[in-house]
Amino acid sequence: MFERENEIVGSRINEGEEDLELSLRPQRLSQYIGQTKVKEVLKIFIESAKMRNQPLDHVLLSGPPGLGKTTLANIISNEMGVNIRVTSGPAIERPGDLAAILTNLNENDVLFIDEIHRINKNVEEVLYPALEDFALDIIIGKGPSARSIRLDLPKFTLIGATTRSGMLASPLRDRFGVMCNLDFYDTKDLKEIVLRSAGIINIEINDQGAEEISRRSRGTPRIANRLLKRVRDYAIVKGNGAIDTATADSALRMFEIDEKGLDRLDRKILNTIIEFYKGGPVGLETIAASIGEEKGTIEDVYEPYLLQIGYLNRTPRGRVVTELGYRHVNKIKKHTDQMTIDMEG
Ligand SMILES: Nc1ncnc2c1ncn2[C@@H]1O[C@H](COP(=O)(O)OP(=O)(O)OP(=O)(O)O)[C@@H](O)[C@H]1O
Ligand SMILES: [Mg+2]
Repeated sequence: MFERENEIVGSRINEGEEDLELSLRPQRLSQYIGQTKVKEVLKIFIESAKMRNQPLDHVLLSGPPGLGKTTLANIISNEMGVNIRVTSGPAIERPGDLAAILTNLNENDVLFIDEIHRINKNVEEVLYPALEDFALDIIIGKGPSARSIRLDLPKFTLIGATTRSGMLASPLRDRFGVMCNLDFYDTKDLKEIVLRSAGIINIEINDQGAEEISRRSRGTPRIANRLLKRVRDYAIVKGNGAIDTATADSALRMFEIDEKGLDRLDRKILNTIIEFYKGGPVGLETIAASIGEEKGTIEDVYEPYLLQIGYLNRTPRGRVVTELGYRHVNKIKKHTDQMTIDMEG
């Protein structure tokens, strides 16, 4: 009863983050900020497919969480002018589930499979002929009398999204005609995203305020939008309702987001490796156990950015905190155990 009430209120005032993401999600390629190369490539493929009146080749979108894979999948279907059917790797439990989805597609439709690296092996087998020949092989009967019949499917475009393209089986990867790897965004692009979002959620912000938020968003649009929302709340309650450098800075400080955009857990990862494992190398599992986080979360969400800004290195023997990483948490890296000896003295 109580929950139901909440749900109604919730949908009316349109609060939760999912709603925010939906409302801030660009709908067309021209509104999609940054990722210039990816946009250029997609634009050509989309135009060509439309001119040939054929579905777009299967597209694989890869990159860390929050960089715009789902957004891009929706944009592609918009630009193609077709329907999009959304599902995810783990949601398709049995081959029959996928068969049902595939037979219900319309010609040229987009099938979006999120987290495609988590797709079940049995299901993957069904996907192969579907991707290659737009066909479904169905086995009828059991034992010696079993026979296989081939069912034609409508021509469709698979868009797969993954945070771990390395985990994709190569036969699956090979069936994608277009592969787009999304990179972290630079501050300039993020600033544009923040300004656009501020306009949509209707909060006053100046250039420097937007820049401050962008610098601390770990190269990630989702985080930029999330920080914007938090800073807005702070500006309304503690400030004059508008966002400038000072409000952005005090708000983010209060939320323990430092000047590089690292949060408490990022710093904990660095500090743990430094204090307990002499800066590494140390395995990811050991790090995860030491700080009580899931290995997958560290690998998918935290590590990529720490690698990107050069605070962490990946070596065959494990993760190592770099000199920059040491400096960030105000520590000094000792070189005693290294091969480099100062010969000058
Ligand atoms: N290029 C962009 N321009 C403007 N806004 C963007 C862009 N990319 C992403 N966003 C914003 O960031 C939010 C998160 O993007 P999205 O959900 O597409 O990420 P994702 O890559 O699918 O993440 P996940 O791996 O967690 O599924 C979107 O709601 C959108 O508002
Ligand atoms: Mg997504």
